Amino acid sequence: MTILVTGGAGYIGSHTCVELLSAGFEVIILDNFVNSHPEVISRIEKITGKGLAVINGDVRDQALVEECLKKYSCTAVMHFAGLKAVGDSVKNPLAYYDNNFVGTHRLLLAMQNCGVEKIVFSSSATVYGEPQYLPITEDHPLTATNPYGRSKLFIEEMLRDFHHANPSWKIALLRYFNPAGAHESGLIGEDPMGLPNNLMPYIAQVATGRREYLSIWGNDYATHDGTGVRDYIHVVDLALGHLKALQQLNSSKSLCLNLGAGIGYSVLDIVHTFEKTSGKKIPYQIDKRRFGDIAVCYADPTLARESLDWVARRDLVAICKDHWRWQKQNPEGYA
Ligand code: NAD
Ligand code: WQD
Repeated sequence: MTILVTGGAGYIGSHTCVELLSAGFEVIILDNFVNSHPEVISRIEKITGKGLAVINGDVRDQALVEECLKKYSCTAVMHFAGLKAVGDSVKNPLAYYDNNFVGTHRLLLAMQNCGVEKIVFSSSATVYGEPQYLPITEDHPLTATNPYGRSKLFIEEMLRDFHHANPSWKIALLRYFNPAGAHESGLIGEDPMGLPNNLMPYIAQVATGRREYLSIWGNDYATHDGTGVRDYIHVVDLALGHLKALQQLNSSKSLCLNLGAGIGYSVLDIVHTFEKTSGKKIPYQIDKRRFGDIAVCYADPTLARESLDWVARRDLVAICKDHWRWQKQNPEGYA
């Protein structure tokens, strides 16, 4: 089975490529490297001892995608390619609708023209907006509070409409909560370009001394310590969830699943656990809330457990330990 992995050089895509190759799949990466480094490819090959084909291209290039699908006789697509920075999406909304929504639209046209009818799509807990209840189940109302989240929600709606018209397709919508951590080898990990938006990579860069201190965006939320609570899921658990979803698509109906640990940790919980596992002090200062942030968000992962026989097995200590090993071994990322 040959899988086209769009955005496969990225954080989650690269970890998923490792698991796909280790499970015996052939992997073709299509990536324009707008937010990743070519060095990732050799790291994936080093970890797995297997080769993979890489096309430096854009998922919006329909002719290129069709050429890849045909040339490599791909049987399914894992679609990670996308822009994901919420703050940037507020400033540049058209870039996010073009890259994420139009990109997915073009990909579907290419797949349809090539008779490839299986896709696993990277959705996000951001489609739930402000939680109306917790833990969040898959039938929670959908909304979005920023252009990035709306691009994901619109893609989900397009996929639901498309599936209604083409019921033979197998589509998995996987809603990730907060991915973190890194492969145990320390060879691949999260390597944000510029200032990290997300908590874990920022903490890791404070630990290496690349950043002076962590700004904690608000400690006046209605949580046990006042700081924001999120559901952190180890990126390897997330990758394994993709493998299970793909295998499930081969045998059954389409899926829409939360991929989360089902546990909420606060910002200070993360800081303290990271300090304990790394032995590094993480200086921080309390700043005002970040616009658009919600207080608490964590998943009910029951449906994924029942549908995929999958659970997030790596705990917060493993997340912090693995994330720190990657950052310590690669203080400047892949550069
Ligand atoms: P990432 O930026 O590390 O990886 C995305 C990859 O896609 C990069 O290698 C980038 O170069 C590539 N890419 C972007 N636009 C492209 C295009 N038009 N054509 C070809 N390649 C393109 O991000 P990630 O954290 O690995 O996230 C992967 C997917 O999961 C994204 O769609 C993101 O929206 C989604 N997601 C991420 C998170 C998270 O917190 N990391 C949470 C929920 C959902
Ligand atoms: C986590 C907590 C912050 C940084 C985002 C996107 C979401 C998804 C996952 C793509 C919050 C606090 C953070 C910092 C801080 N991405 N924080 N100081 O906001 O839950 O979700 O990434 O789909 O769409 O919104 O993740 O890591 O940015 O923040 O205090 O420097 O850490 O306030 O409580 P978030 P995050």
